[in-house]
Amino acid sequence: MQTNMRGMDMITTQEWTKDQLDTVLDIAFDLKKKRALGIPHPYLRDKTLAMLFFFSSTRTRGSFEAGMAQLGGHAAFVESRTTQIAHGDTAKELGEIYGRYFDGIAIRHVDWGVGNRYLRYVAEASRAPVLNMQCDLYHPHQALADLQTIIEKKGDPRGKTITVSWAYASSYQKPLSVPTSLILLMTRYGMNVRLVHPPKFDLPAFIVDQAQENARRAGGSLEIMDDFDAGFRDSDVIYAKSWGPLVTTTDFEESKRLIEQYKDWITDSRRMALAKPDAIYMHPLPADRDIEVTTEVLEGPQSVVYDEAENRLHVQKAVMALTMGNGWGP
Ligand code: CP
Repeated sequence: MQTNMRGMDMITTQEWTKDQLDTVLDIAFDLKKKRALGIPHPYLRDKTLAMLFFFSSTRTRGSFEAGMAQLGGHAAFVESRTTQIAHGDTAKELGEIYGRYFDGIAIRHVDWGVGNRYLRYVAEASRAPVLNMQCDLYHPHQALADLQTIIEKKGDPRGKTITVSWAYASSYQKPLSVPTSLILLMTRYGMNVRLVHPPKFDLPAFIVDQAQENARRAGGSLEIMDDFDAGFRDSDVIYAKSWGPLVTTTDFEESKRLIEQYKDWITDSRRMALAKPDAIYMHPLPADRDIEVTTEVLEGPQSVVYDEAENRLHVQKAVMALTMGNGWGP
């Protein structure tokens, strides 16, 4: 068991070793049990976390804030518009200053081409670890919660098939950080990953290349497909959500035109029937109901979305306890 994570940033799981990720999962399961039994676990007593949001959130804010309280610490909700960032505070200043006030800095910044760079600048200047609450490229805590959920529902993930698919949504152009994080993490755990999307909805090539290499090393696979129905066939895990064609275009009208071509990419009971009979349906939420996925599937017996959302709490507590705690470290 590798336990030397004190002070580490969690910006993408790709920068953590497999042994370190195994430790996160191990502790997440333990913390989940402790919470179920009402056993106190104040591993972060007197510690503070800044949660800096440049974008809205339901689950991420709630789970980080509740998690810090359950670990005996405190989380400060900081909405970027209420800060002096618009008046000149730089990422370096944020890192330098908040890194002195707080024991961790969690950031959500999903602007395409900006978010990940912002996190990296803050991390470079901060003496406290930076935790990614979702950027334009990665959503690591979501993928860790997803992996915990898959292990709970399906056992050993090795050799299981997960379909990571694009789906139609009309609400807004969603970031692509969930599918990127899924293909990076699930390939490391030996899953057979199907990445399914229409033309022009590619994920960044360097991330797809990393996922291919992960699959080669772990003995799994990464297959890229453009047929939505074929992606469902005999799969163990269906994970279909929308993302914007950001790699192709950042023009809003052009994106909208591309998205509107694929209105029929909805997860419904007919498509779920193509998967294995015991397949599970996953989505990080929020979902565009009856557009991205039918309510029948989202609320149906194969859906695990509420357990998946719950697991955000447990994996994040594990990452915070390991990176921000007083445990042994290098
Ligand atoms: N899944 C997820 O990150 O949800 P929020 O956007 O509500 O935080």
